[in-house]
Amino acid sequence: MSRFGKAVDSTIGWIDARFPLIKMWNDHLAQYYAPKNFNFWYYFGSLALLVLVLQFLTGIWLTMNYKPSAENAFASVEYIMRDVEWGWLIRYMHSTGASAFFIVVYLHMFRAMLYGSYKKPRELIWILGMFIYLCLMAEAFFGYLLPWGQMSYWGAQVIISLFGAIPFIGEELTLWIRGDFNVSDITLNRFFALHVIALPLLLVGLVFLHIIALHEVGSNNPDGVEIKNKKDANGVPLDGIRFHPYYTVKDMVGMVVFLILFAMVVFFAPEMGGYFLEHANFEPADPLKTPEHIAPVWYFTPFYAILRAVPDKLFGVLAMGAAVMLFFALPWLDKSPVKSIRYRGWKYRGALTAFAISFVALGWLGLQAATPTYTWLARFFAVVYFGFFLLMPFYTRNDNDKTVPERVTDR
Ligand code: HEM
Repeated sequence: MSRFGKAVDSTIGWIDARFPLIKMWNDHLAQYYAPKNFNFWYYFGSLALLVLVLQFLTGIWLTMNYKPSAENAFASVEYIMRDVEWGWLIRYMHSTGASAFFIVVYLHMFRAMLYGSYKKPRELIWILGMFIYLCLMAEAFFGYLLPWGQMSYWGAQVIISLFGAIPFIGEELTLWIRGDFNVSDITLNRFFALHVIALPLLLVGLVFLHIIALHEVGSNNPDGVEIKNKKDANGVPLDGIRFHPYYTVKDMVGMVVFLILFAMVVFFAPEMGGYFLEHANFEPADPLKTPEHIAPVWYFTPFYAILRAVPDKLFGVLAMGAAVMLFFALPWLDKSPVKSIRYRGWKYRGALTAFAISFVALGWLGLQAATPTYTWLARFFAVVYFGFFLLMPFYTRNDNDKTVPERVTDR
């Protein structure tokens, strides 16, 4: 062994006598057995981790030149874009990263719905995932105020004022959130604190718990078969392979493809036609001039469309909240003994397809001006959306499920 190799070995030995380094490496990577039939849908967990790291790094560097005050925020972002070396790249990576995060997380969640990954024994992984999702929404909302553009300002104004619909405490609550009678310098300052410290800390803690919970019960897979039920004489699952090197390499392929697509957006279409960075946000915030058309960024629009579809403000807010919260209940709403869509009957297949279409349609409608036709369409898709969840205990109970194989099929 070379002298360098020996030095590395002895350093690892020194650490290992004081900290369970090799044990952790083995438990979570080298001797962690994951199902051998992971497919395309299993890229998005590791991609979410990658985007999280990217957002952290670009966020830290943006903070070095950003000024969190109503007086200077907009100008400091312009300064980053024009004068700070590579500032434009860091900013576009961060703004594109926000949308990429939601694309990756929505696909990651959809995978869980395809293969029943929220079902026993993975309910807690799902619940922790939902807390991550809520945290992510809050993180994106607080971050969007920071450039102090027209849409930052008016978007925050509209969303915060929704809390005013809550009976008795509504008005006080909006005042408490803003810290002022209007969205102001005070609001910007506290949103900055929440965006750069509080929520990232919470997010990292939740992601850590998410992965610990995952490694406790093991991953599900496209067949929805529990690989722990069939082990060899050494206690190794017959359909499992070591996470490292097999899936570390597979995940790296996914990361390279993702980074190519990500770079294409960052370099050639960072605004994405107004979907990733809205046009109105290139004008500084003006409390005296309401933009003609206020719409949140695309990842919030399915819920925004539901809010607008309900004529009454309070019921609209409740419907919007319920649309998000219902995901928490999925493990208990789904009564089917079968996990994977591969072996489910036509009822769940149809319902999931209808749900996916309604989610995309609501997302599109939420971006449009609320004409009467669009409002009625949004009502229709909102009914489909809620039907998916509320009727689930009935249509999953006696679906024409197929027999689930004993072992994974793509061996
Ligand atoms: C920052 C966001 C997130 C990160 C970094 C993350 C990370 C991961 C990773 C690395 C895995 C294992 C690899 C894989 O199965 O793809 C995983 C699995 C899982 N995640 Fe997430 N996740 C995030 C958000 C979410 C959300 C929002 C949900 C759902 C609400 C969720 C639900 C799940 C479930 C159910 C599994 C187990 C899947 C299976 O075994 O089939 N995750 N997550």
